[in-house]
Formats: sequence, C-alpha cells, structure tokens
Amino acid sequence: MSDIRPRRSVLYMPGSNARALEKAKTLAADALILDLEDAVAPDAKDEARTRVAEAVAAGGYGARELIIRVNGLSTPWGEADLAAAADAGPDAILVPKVETAEDVAEIGRRLAARGTDAGVKLWVMMETPLAMLNAAEIAAARHGADGVRLTCFVMGTNDLAKETGARLLPGRMPMLAWLSTCVAAARAYGLDIIDGVFNDFGDEEGFRAECEAGRDLGMTGKTLIHPKQIDICNSAFSASAAEIDWARKVIDAFEQPENRDKGAVTVDGRMVERLHAEIAKRTVAIAAAIAAREES
Ligand code: COA
Ligand code: MG
Repeated sequence: MSDIRPRRSVLYMPGSNARALEKAKTLAADALILDLEDAVAPDAKDEARTRVAEAVAAGGYGARELIIRVNGLSTPWGEADLAAAADAGPDAILVPKVETAEDVAEIGRRLAARGTDAGVKLWVMMETPLAMLNAAEIAAARHGADGVRLTCFVMGTNDLAKETGARLLPGRMPMLAWLSTCVAAARAYGLDIIDGVFNDFGDEEGFRAECEAGRDLGMTGKTLIHPKQIDICNSAFSASAAEIDWARKVIDAFEQPENRDKGAVTVDGRMVERLHAEIAKRTVAIAAAIAAREES
C-alpha cells in the first residue's frame, strides 16, 4: 500500500497574496500550492519568492501539505525559485511544463547538488502535448537514481487547452484520453495524480460534477483555485459512510475462518474477491487518515 496521506483538495494561491497565505492556515484543504508561476505577475516574482519561502519556513499550516510551485528552469526566475524552495523545505516542489524523464532527472540532480533534504518531494505539472505523449516515461523516471523524489502528477488543464487547442467543455470529452493516459502512467509507477482546476468557481453544480468525474477516472484529488471549492471537493473524494461500512464487511468476510482458503465469497448477495478486500483495506485506511486529520 502506498502513501495514505489524504490529497483530496489541493488549493493554489498566488505567492504574492499575503492575505491568502495567512487565510490558508484556517482552510480545510489537504494541501496548499504556494504559487510563484502563473498566478504571479513578472514584476511581483521576486517579492513572492521571498514571501513564500518565509511562510513555509515559519510554518503554522498544521497537517496541510505545503507545496511550492516554481517557475520553469528555462525562465529568468526558475533557478532562484528552485534554490529558495529547496532551502525553505516544503513537503514538495511542483515544477511546471515537465516533458521528459530527463527533465525529472535534471531537477533531481539540482536538488541533490544543493543538499536538499530527502523529505522534499517532487511533483510535476502535466500540461503540454509532449507530456501527454511521454506520460509513462515521465512517471517511470521515479525509478531512476535522480528521480526518486517524484511522487505526484498534477494535471494542468488550462495550459493543456492553450497548447493543444482542445476546449474546456462540461464533461471534458476533448481531454478524457489525456486524463486517463496520465492516470494509467501515474498508477503504473505508484504516483498520486491530482486533477486540473475548474475555473468557474461560482458554478457549484458544474464543479461538483467535475470532481466526481475526476474521482471516477481514478484521480487522487483535485486542484482548486478558491476556498469555496474545498468542501465540495473533500466530500466528492471521500468515501461515504455506506462505502466505508461495505468495505468493513468485505474485509470481515475474508477474515472468517470458513473463508480463509477461498478466493471469492458472497457478501449481501454480491460476489467479492480478494482484490476487493485489498481495495476495502485502502478505503478504510484513507478514511482513518481523513478522520485523524479532521480531529487534529
Ligand atoms: N487561497 C486562499 N485564500 C483565498 C484564495 C486562495 N486561492 N482565493 C481567495 N481567497 C480568500 C480571499 O483572500 C478572501 O479572504 P477574506 O475574506 O479573508 O478577505 C476570501 O478568500 C474570498 O475571496 P474572494 O473575494 O471571493 O476572491 P478574490 O476576488 O479575492 O480572488 C481569485 C479571486 C480567483 C483571484 C483568487 O481566488 C485566486 O487568486 N485564486 C488562485 C489563483 C491561482 O493560484 N492560480 C494559479 C493556478 S490555476
Ligand atoms: Mg500554467
């Protein structure tokens, strides 16, 4: 079983926005992406870098995972961002526009050369046409000596729309193939994968539908842009009480002495196999981690 840290709701905030960085300490998001890239104007980049590094070093975010999104290494700010992020020691650094396994390795080498703590993980944005075509090799980079920090894909659907010409439509038919390809690549190599943002944050029904669709595709959670999206997202990506009850029944069934040697048994008139007991154990473990977080 891989990492069971809940990553249902992952909220972006501009690194230049002091009020958002402070407010985030009270929000129910599982993870926070403190952004130095798209959400920050060129003139504000240096100030945002300092502000974000200070916020991460000062802490106060409780169990929320802290991720710093840097500018790409080919931009004028990338090097300084990566250095400041590495030294601040967040849970992860998120790098945009990654397109090859070599991109992952290059970032890994730079972090190692700086003596970055092994606890600082690497998340990558999947947001260009080439990244869609190279999804498996990018995920597989985690098995290379320089890629071991890689733990998570983040779908960048706005950039993907810009770069491909595919439209952002309700139901996301134009992007389904890419979303599923990235889910398969991530899961093949044991990575988590966080869905793209829903821009129209006033449209609660549309947002809920997209959260549920992402969950059904196999996404771990969803990136968010506004605090009002957090509760809907957390609920869509949490198992319901009925699902947790069912999971306990399935686990229990295989623990009965008479079922110890069986591969498949009947629970409430339905066939369940040992693989269902494995899924059930994961459901219960994630629910326990979420409950522990809600109590903290
Ligand atoms: N993170 C933390 N707090 C946020 C927030 C965010 N992403 N977005 C809004 N808030 C806070 C505001 O500071 C405000 O707090 P207050 O009531 O204590 O003053 C409150 O939530 C309500 O905000 P609201 O007035 O509805 O929104 P806004 O007009 O201030 O901001 C956006 C709207 C879209 C500009 C803002 O939500 C935002 O910057 N989102 C993130 C954008 C981003 O990071 N994009 C990059 C990745 S796609
Ligand atoms: Mg972008």
